[in-house]
Amino acid sequence: MTTIGIHDLALATAHHVVDLSELATDRGVDPGKYLTGLGQTSMSFPAPDEDIVTMGATAARTLLHRTGTDQVRWLLFATESGVDQSKSAAVYAHRLLDLPSHVRAVEFKQACYAGTAALQAALGIVARNPHDQVLVITSDVARYALNSSGEPTQGAGAVAMLVSANPGLLEIEPISGVATRDVDDFWRPNDASTAVVDGRLSVAAYIDSLMLAWDDYAARGGKPVDQIDRFVYHQPFTRMAVKAHLALARHTGMPGDTAAMGAGLEYNRLLGNSYTASLYAGLAALLDSDTTLAGQRIGLFSYGSGSVGEFFTGVVQPGYDRTWHHQATADALAARSPLSVSAYEKLHAVALPSDTDADTPHVTAGPYRFAGIENQARRYESTV
Ligand code: HMG
Repeated sequence: MTTIGIHDLALATAHHVVDLSELATDRGVDPGKYLTGLGQTSMSFPAPDEDIVTMGATAARTLLHRTGTDQVRWLLFATESGVDQSKSAAVYAHRLLDLPSHVRAVEFKQACYAGTAALQAALGIVARNPHDQVLVITSDVARYALNSSGEPTQGAGAVAMLVSANPGLLEIEPISGVATRDVDDFWRPNDASTAVVDGRLSVAAYIDSLMLAWDDYAARGGKPVDQIDRFVYHQPFTRMAVKAHLALARHTGMPGDTAAMGAGLEYNRLLGNSYTASLYAGLAALLDSDTTLAGQRIGLFSYGSGSVGEFFTGVVQPGYDRTWHHQATADALAARSPLSVSAYEKLHAVALPSDTDADTPHVTAGPYRFAGIENQARRYESTV
């Protein structure tokens, strides 16, 4: 039987990084709250000429250089920080990546869950046409108001995945558990550049969603918990994933420690929240940290406020460690340029790049940049 899943995956992030010890000191908060209480040490922050399109295209470029584009028929772009109400970010990325016109381009939205919705749609497309491949891009900039409790959980990042038959990395198994409920825990009105959030409610809603999704997964004939070797979670901040795992352990009777999470928190701790990309950054961190995962089953929990949660599983494919690029993400994270707190606040004050119609300064070191607005239309350019 044909297997379907993630053939390859690549991560990109923003140009800048803000140190959370420095932010805590400036905000008069004990750094332990951010570093230990939230489990975050830094957050990526975009340069004025970066956004979801440039980060997403950068991640996809790395991926497509490895895999080629011959069989790609779809580009599904998942984001909750979209740059236009009508035109999809996928179309901008399509041009930057020089994809052929026969590749369809569409945007998906449901908070952080949209990446998983795109992945599930991609699996269905490949099931129907096993020769087709689907490029899924998850890309977000997480922005909360200055001095808000969400501020230290900002971040930015993109993960691109190629979904295909006979995948090289992770076969996604067919059974999954879903939990959709209308909850006002986090949202971003059309006229706002930062999210509105009820932080405490959002934490409780995330945990409730995991329990509901797990119960649905179990009821639909999912694997018993002792047959799932590793767990990766959506990570708005890494302590949230730890809380979720411990709650699932209590719910299912599995060991009440975090051993099964492996090193899956290590990138998100440095990136901050990357919304749709966050779960898949966690997957990348787990795969990067361990070359002995072939044959192991990974449980993944995706949560998007509002809310939709989904628990599903994937099996790591034999030989993944030979083709996998262990150092690439660590290098991208290390290459970020530090921002002082005052410089970060100045950049944050420019609500969105689209607030200005001037040419944007060239800051990013990445292969693509947002060049400015002309006749109300966004202009992107390649720098390579
Ligand atoms: P807060 O209320 O200011 O923090 O912000 P707190 O008082 O809850 O403290 C956080 C933790 O730090 C606590 O640990 C404290 O004890 C600890 P806990 O009790 O939870 O285990 N602490 C310390 N630890 C060590 N040393 C110290 C110290 N001081 C305190 N000195 C809040 C927390 C989550 C509310 C805030 O960060 C926020 O609003 N974040 C944004 C919303 C969010 O991330 N929600 C998560 C679930 S919703 C979700 O995941 C979806 C999302 O990604 C969006 C989407 O789907 O689109 C957000």
